[in-house]
Amino acid sequence: MSKSVFITGGAGFIGSELVKCLLEKEDFKITIYDNLSSQVHLDFYKTPFYHNIKNKVNFVCGDIRDFELLSKSLKGHKIVFHFASETGTGQSMYQTDKYLDVNVQGTYNIIKASKKNDIEKIILSSSRSVYGEGKYLDENDLEFYPKPRDFNLISRYGFEIKYQNKKIRPVATDENSLCKPTSIYGLTKLIQEDLILDSNIPYIILRYQNVYGPGQSLLNPYTGIMSVFSNMIYNNKKILIFEDGSQTRDFVFIDDVTKINFNSVVSNDLLNEIFNIGTGKKTNVLSLCKTISSAMGKKNNFEITMKHRLGDIRHNFADVKKIKKIIKNFNTINLNQGVEKFIKWFETQDVPSSLFQKSMNELIEKKLYK
Ligand SMILES: NC(=O)c1ccc[n+]([C@@H]2O[C@H](COP(=O)([O-])OP(=O)(O)OC[C@H]3O[C@@H](n4cnc5c(N)ncnc54)[C@H](O)[C@@H]3O)[C@@H](O)[C@H]2O)c1
Repeated sequence: MSKSVFITGGAGFIGSELVKCLLEKEDFKITIYDNLSSQVHLDFYKTPFYHNIKNKVNFVCGDIRDFELLSKSLKGHKIVFHFASETGTGQSMYQTDKYLDVNVQGTYNIIKASKKNDIEKIILSSSRSVYGEGKYLDENDLEFYPKPRDFNLISRYGFEIKYQNKKIRPVATDENSLCKPTSIYGLTKLIQEDLILDSNIPYIILRYQNVYGPGQSLLNPYTGIMSVFSNMIYNNKKILIFEDGSQTRDFVFIDDVTKINFNSVVSNDLLNEIFNIGTGKKTNVLSLCKTISSAMGKKNNFEITMKHRLGDIRHNFADVKKIKKIIKNFNTINLNQGVEKFIKWFETQDVPSSLFQKSMNELIEKKLYK
């Protein structure tokens, strides 16, 4: 019998890759439920993705805040994959009502509708942002979880996290680490997790690090550092590097993420657990900028701004031991290979003009960048 999968946000980056994978592999009955947010999509109905899926999946253009439509559309499905979300860290600090409404109320609607429709399992796309700064060790190798950096004091004390003048160092953050989000976005992702944990519906929670690769929105200036940088480099715009460029992130390629997502649908070996999904390797933002420029054959054109955006963390990378223990062949491709694949795809796209300056103007106007 075919499995029925309901995918919120299935028109987006990570969701659409899962849809493609499900269609290739087995006999699935798929519904995509997505409101085609204008921040993410230009003209979805003209994309090759829509062209490929239109006769193969049930596509509902709907909002997760619309409980009636959501519940009606969910009927007859067994598995829910919940991707739909507002996703911008900086933006969440001023569009807070919207982030709470979509990410929290929207997720609660999915839980209510799932209970009404006897859903067997919900898979939640969570985020490393739930950890905030994540795990550090002090001079004695004792765990330490820093508070969010003080926005008003960063310029005086520097970007690195300090604790009573002692040396501390960031280490890979595991799933048992303390969750202390530094942004409203991170907080909403943590609330999503708690709502799912409290629901008594079987679940899988996947905390992604920075996911990148072909299919990523090239339009959205509020999130997705890989596409934001690529768009600016391509359009010969100077990249404004926040802080001093030495802040680090863990970049994980979409195909590696899709493997885990597919596994979460077809198997129960990850059931009722939370997993980090990343590479376990850290990359600093400045070197990412240089890697993309070089892959595009362009000269470096950036400015180190020494300015900080409220809500941003300094370092975080995943401890991936837990997922590797269960998925033995979970190997991630390295950043250079991934960037090459991404740029190869990027160069085949109609690249929209960069909206980054608009997003910066909003931050400056709201005094969230200084
Ligand atoms: N991409 C990453 O690096 C990353 C990292 C950590 C977590 N995540 C999480 O993974 C999920 C998917 O991320 P993505 O990168 O594919 O994002 P995306 O923006 O490409 O896709 C999100 C999709 O959700 C849809 N959507 C937004 N608001 C909606 C609403 N109110 N109702 C219905 N649909 C709505 C959008 O139209 C879009 O198609 C999100 O939950 C995000 O928080 C992503």
